[in-house]
Amino acid sequence: MNSVADKIRAFSYTVNVEFGIDLAETDMDQNEQITRIGEGVRVLAPAKINLSLLVAGKRPDGYHELETIMAKINLYDELLIEPGTRKGIELICEGDEWAPSGKENLVYTACERLLETAGREADIKITLLKRIPAGAGLASASTDAAAALIGVNKLLELGLDGAKLHNLAAELGSDVAFFLGGPLAFCTGRGEKILQIEENYAFTAVLLLPKISCSTEKVYANYKHESERFRYFKSEIDTLLDKNRIDLVTSMCANMLESTCFGLYRELEELKAKVESLGIKPLFLSGSGSAMYHIMETSEGGVVGEYAHLIERQIGCRCITITNNRW
Ligand code: C5P
Repeated sequence: MNSVADKIRAFSYTVNVEFGIDLAETDMDQNEQITRIGEGVRVLAPAKINLSLLVAGKRPDGYHELETIMAKINLYDELLIEPGTRKGIELICEGDEWAPSGKENLVYTACERLLETAGREADIKITLLKRIPAGAGLASASTDAAAALIGVNKLLELGLDGAKLHNLAAELGSDVAFFLGGPLAFCTGRGEKILQIEENYAFTAVLLLPKISCSTEKVYANYKHESERFRYFKSEIDTLLDKNRIDLVTSMCANMLESTCFGLYRELEELKAKVESLGIKPLFLSGSGSAMYHIMETSEGGVVGEYAHLIERQIGCRCITITNNRW
């Protein structure tokens, strides 16, 4: 292990199972994420933001090797998972934000694969309440898929251990595995190798939700690698992690996908410039976009709500106040 990783507790479900801390076995009453409702369970699916996102290079399988710090935030989708009244999996999407229905939704695939792995057949009804916008870099679909794995495993008492859930999650998508743990982690590989950062990072931020949906696939496909930049960011961030200064990592705005994203979606670059001209800076792009956030410094006091109003009023971009998630 290198010095940065020494500071971070190695976290994989294999390790967790060894030490007997298996999320799948967490007592429901003590887990804020899951609550029993009638014969079903309600599972919260938090969004994430990237506090840093470094691209180490392109891999032979077409994916990109990443080093990213991800933090769960207090913006949630909700899944109500109940015994079904129809054959198979029934998925209903509700709420203000769009999500594909039926088999197009990753929640559906997650349930199918979970049941296959457990060797079970079951009729399940899932009502997905969407609040997290898609194409925003907030892992909208990935967090729902992880919540479905956790919830269905629990409801049907499938007894899949953390290692199996982790493997399933990693197959479903690069960000899914992060949501089995958290709230803060250093992720490598495609994003599916998770090193949990033990001490949570407390923050309040203003989150801009532009009406633009970015294609992750398109952003990665257009990305031009900058190895010098990667080396520079990596050395700075490793040093800050060694000093346990995540707060300083965020002020670097190290998102190596930003220029590609802005090249494809010019309106986002203009939006960032406008918001920063109001003095609300630095503004940081989450993932492959389109959401951007500004973490409040202590010196900025309690004006985060005012910032959100100012941005909505003067620039007309939807804006909410967020904090780090506790779990
Ligand atoms: O894994 P996921 O389905 O979320 O990724 C969506 C797309 O983003 C992939 O098809 C791939 O083109 C790109 N991607 C990548 N490198 C990663 C993660 C995603 O190139 N580490």
